This record gives sequence, structure tokens and C-alpha cells, in this order.
Amino acid sequence: MDIPSQVQQSVSFIHNQMESAGVSGESRHFGLILGSGLGSLAHEIEDSITIPYAKTPGFPLSHVSGHAGNLVLGRIGQTKVVALAGRSHLYEGWASQHATLPVRVLAGLGVKNLVVSNASGGINPRFRSGQVVLIDQHIDGMRRSPFTPEELATQKAASDQSTAAMRAGHHGRLGSTYDENLMKQAERVAISLGFSLQRGTYLATLGPTYETRAEYRMFARMGADMVGMSTVPEVLVARSLGVRVLAFSIVTNVATPDAPTKTDHSEVLDWSKQAQSQLVPLIKTMLTEPQADLLG
Ligand code: HPA
Repeated sequence: MDIPSQVQQSVSFIHNQMESAGVSGESRHFGLILGSGLGSLAHEIEDSITIPYAKTPGFPLSHVSGHAGNLVLGRIGQTKVVALAGRSHLYEGWASQHATLPVRVLAGLGVKNLVVSNASGGINPRFRSGQVVLIDQHIDGMRRSPFTPEELATQKAASDQSTAAMRAGHHGRLGSTYDENLMKQAERVAISLGFSLQRGTYLATLGPTYETRAEYRMFARMGADMVGMSTVPEVLVARSLGVRVLAFSIVTNVATPDAPTKTDHSEVLDWSKQAQSQLVPLIKTMLTEPQADLLG
């Protein structure tokens, strides 16, 4: 089945589930990808219904510990939300197109804004484990297109048209990938909650292994502030569908390219839990009374 038909089937299935649960089929304003640091936000969703990925047509199933697999629909304050509690990674063997299908489904449910979180290794030496960083740029080190051949053809035609302008440096392609208005709002709310957010460039690798010291050093020279194994394909798909994106990275280990250290998954989970105490209230506060211009 092609991707548009698969998305249509998933969206219809979810609408049916909502109808049987007596939940309004209204558009969801915010989509949430509950990666590291945001898992417990699922418990804060009111009047919620939970639909396991395993029942939802076309959804990839993650096997990574710490990543559940449920769609949770409901509201946070006045904002209607749909959350992806658990995501699939390319390192599990999923094709980029399949791993990002849930993002297309969110857009099909009417989502106009997407909040994403992940865990990363800190490359910028000023970062500390447990720190929450706003992703304001990325480097796509995966280079696995999540797009269909039809979408690629359209993108190619659009890019041919704007090549001259891009060569002249007028269109930083990534300039508007991460929404400035949402980032500013997140920064304001963080300050009101007593902490500040740094911004940084996130480099995505295919994984599944963490980096060698030489790789951390190379990524630092490339301009990355943190490195992780998710998010970029989801963000590319969301932006292609006109969805605004706000992305957070929890730094779970700071790279020390000049001294041997070992990173393990339990350390990543521990620091992610700690960061939840900042990130969950931040998103709750942002969504309880959302800015009117984000609901359109
Ligand atoms: N590298 C890649 N992904 C990660 C890391 C890392 O050091 N830490 C958490 N996710």
C-alpha cells in the first residue's frame, strides 16, 4: 500500500476509535512526540483515550526499552492534543518513510504544531548532563529521505526554481525549520519557571552505537552541539506538511573526546527522567493557555 493510502487508513481507524469512545473528532492543535524527557506528559493528558500502535494500521512498533507505543488523544488545558508515546528509530531497521508515518497521521488529524523531544550526547563543552536544549538547527547525518517519489519530484522542481536565490545565500533552507515564535515562547515560559534554555545544533546519525571519541571530535568541527539518533526525519516530514516544529534535546552525556569514557542506555534514561521535571511543566504551561495564533 502506498503512503498516502496507508495514512488515510490510519486516520480513519483513529477517527472510528474516537467516535466509539465518545470523543469529539475535532482537529488536534498540537502533536507531541514524547521522546526522552517527555514520557510522563502522557499522564497529564486529560479526557484521554489511548490507542496502542499495535492496533493502528501501518504503525511501526518500537522495541527500545523506555519507549512505549501508544497514541494518546485528549487535551492539556484548553489545547486539544495527540501524543505519540514512543517512536521508532531507523537503527531498529525501519525505513525512514515507514518510521515517519505517524507524523503524517498527526497532520491528518489536523495537527498544526508539533513538539518533539529526544536524548542526545552533548558535544558543546558548555553543556551539562540533564540539560534541556532547544534545537534551532540540525545537520542531517542520516541522509535517508522520508519522502515519497512524488514528493521528491515536487521538491526538486521547487528547488530548481529557487536555486539562483539559494546560491545567492538568500534562503537559508533551515532558517525556518524550527519555529522562532514557538522557541521564543518556550524560552519565556522556561524563565518564568526558573530556568533558562540554551539553543543548539542537533546532528542526527543512524546509530545504533554511540560515537567514538574521534567521531565526537569530528562532529564538533562540523558545528554540532549535540548528537542523537532520531527527530530529523520526523521534522522533515512535519515541515513538508506545513506543521510548525518545536524540538527539545535532553543532553544525557557530555562527550569528552580527549578522555576515554563509556556511555550506556541506563545513564541516558536516568538523565532523561531528571530533565522531565523541567520539560513537562514547560510544555504543560505552554499548552494550558496557548497563543491564539497557534490554533489556526
Ligand atoms: N550519541 C548518540 N545518541 C545519543 C547519545 C550519544 O552520545 N546520548 C544519547 N543519545
